[in-house]
Amino acid sequence: MSEPQQRARYLVRPGGRVAGELTVPGDKSISHRALMLGGIAQGDTEISGFLAGEDCLATLRALQALGVRIERPEDEHVIVHGAGPGGLQAAAAALDMGNAGTAMRLFMGLLAGQGFDSTLVGDESLMRRPMERVALPLRLMGARILTRDGRPPVKIRAAARLRAIDYSLPVASAQVKSALLLAALRAFGRTRVTEPAPARDHTERMLGAFGVELFREGCTVAIEGGQGLRGTQVRVPADFSSAAFFMVAGCLAADRGLLLRNVGVNPTRTGLMELLLRMGADIRVHPAGGAQGQGGQGDSHAEPIADIEVRASRLRGIKVPETLVPLSIDEFPVFFVAAACAEGETEVRGALELRVKESDRLAAMADGLATLGVENQLLQDGLWIRGSQGFGGGTVESHGDHRIAMAFAVAGLKARAPIEILDVANVATSFPGFVDMAHGAGLQIEAL
Ligand code: S3P
Repeated sequence: MSEPQQRARYLVRPGGRVAGELTVPGDKSISHRALMLGGIAQGDTEISGFLAGEDCLATLRALQALGVRIERPEDEHVIVHGAGPGGLQAAAAALDMGNAGTAMRLFMGLLAGQGFDSTLVGDESLMRRPMERVALPLRLMGARILTRDGRPPVKIRAAARLRAIDYSLPVASAQVKSALLLAALRAFGRTRVTEPAPARDHTERMLGAFGVELFREGCTVAIEGGQGLRGTQVRVPADFSSAAFFMVAGCLAADRGLLLRNVGVNPTRTGLMELLLRMGADIRVHPAGGAQGQGGQGDSHAEPIADIEVRASRLRGIKVPETLVPLSIDEFPVFFVAAACAEGETEVRGALELRVKESDRLAAMADGLATLGVENQLLQDGLWIRGSQGFGGGTVESHGDHRIAMAFAVAGLKARAPIEILDVANVATSFPGFVDMAHGAGLQIEAL
């Protein structure tokens, strides 16, 4: 695995049509949270539709190392026997979060107020990612946290109970918000977290489903410390961010339509759909009830789900409204592929956060698109693209970033020559079985 040329690659042959019905794997964000909240709850939590991807398995193994008993009768069916309040125990070794930024940041919040030390490490990409955005507010709560120049390893020292804070997030980040809400459970007093713009609210919804009381006052979430969680049932919807690749594939090449089943359509996640609709996409949403616990569509803790039907259409370039950036943050790689196939220009600004994801996603997409003959300009906080008739062939680097790899796979549908995509093993972090599903839908993709 050490030589780049021996790393896993995709070869995507040009053209093809997509069709049929697909159910993509479970939501990554919700699967991480279900494990963590289940781990600290009193009683059992039963998770169905769990994402058996490497990221969530890192969270599962870390909880086991912290003394939580977990059974997995099937890949996607997990039973967490909650350790209860104060029930976590020191791990024998550093906790390895792999490629998972969400796992590392949420665990920082979960472990900050524990009576034992913990160390968090990850893979090459995660060891480069910024952690001070979480460490800093946690220190204000009384946590003792060390980073190495702001990056992992993260060392968390035993802390007596934390104190509540009022904190305004400098960037819209669900990971930072969630870490603070988890730490707030072990703090004296009422913690208030204010976000500059709405970011995904899965933690708030799920805490509610576990019996925790939260208050939403505009852009502020408030939570009283010392509340216990009650184990529950969590039905994880299909991941909108995984469905996104097929949504764009459908816009490009589903002449007879493509149906995506049981997709999580929490409005804090579905920005891509709004962007594609503004570009002239033919997308129809058929609500299919609510997931998580017993709740239906009317239950505020429930995660809304829907079937999404997509048909090929002509797309037009757009200027992306900055308010939609946090709501489509993980979908930009594949959105840029759609923009490259649209008529006219597309511009995204206010997306600096894309530079600190699993890779610098602005630079990675700008380079890859240029290799495939798409005129674009890398901006400090965004990307400008001139849409064209599609892509030339060539070899693109995914930088070990799952979403970059899958985005360029979709580009194959509108390519004039084969596209080779390098370093794709990390697709397994979020989308196990991607190649088979993509191939089944009509992409001419092969893993090498
Ligand atoms: C996530 C939040 C987002 C997102 C990530 C998952 C989460 O990160 O990009 O893939 O599950 O909370 P930020 O909080 O850094 O925006």
